[in-house]
Amino acid sequence: MNKLIYSLIAFVGILAMANCSPKTVKNTTSENKNTETVSVEISFGSKPFEEQMDIVRSITTEENTTDGRQIYQTSCGKCHELFQPDSRNIASWMKVMKRMSKEAKLSEQQYKLVSVYLNSQAKS
Ligand code: HEC
Repeated sequence: MNKLIYSLIAFVGILAMANCSPKTVKNTTSENKNTETVSVEISFGSKPFEEQMDIVRSITTEENTTDGRQIYQTSCGKCHELFQPDSRNIASWMKVMKRMSKEAKLSEQQYKLVSVYLNSQAKS
């Protein structure tokens, strides 16, 4: 009988622990001003344009483009009307995105997906 109670307690304990496991949210947009830090991942928004475009091209798929459009439509029309994706070229969009990704509080991944979408629509 005792054994049963102990295993019940153990089971509940495991459940509780599983529930409390940290949800890892990756946020690399914060700037690290500590000059002693040796390796700091440079956030997508701070990379030079060509490097951003290499990343964008490497993750361009139909699915990511659709996801990017969804994020664009839900996150970028909150404070102003949605801007037409073909109203600017991609270089100009990437400049705007550096500011607006912060306004829209996009995660690094969302920032990249919106960039994939804009790259597919931007004027040449
Ligand atoms: C929290 C409010 C807010 C959100 C969310 C937001 N914006 Fe903006 N946006 C602004 C404000 C304020 C301005 C005008 C001031 C400025 O240009 O910084 C602006 C201006 C712009 C402009 C014109 C700027 C220019 O220089 O031509 C574009 C394009 C734009 N936003 C795109 C976006 C995109 C794309 C997103 C989604 C990633 C977005 N915005 C999300 C507040 C927001």
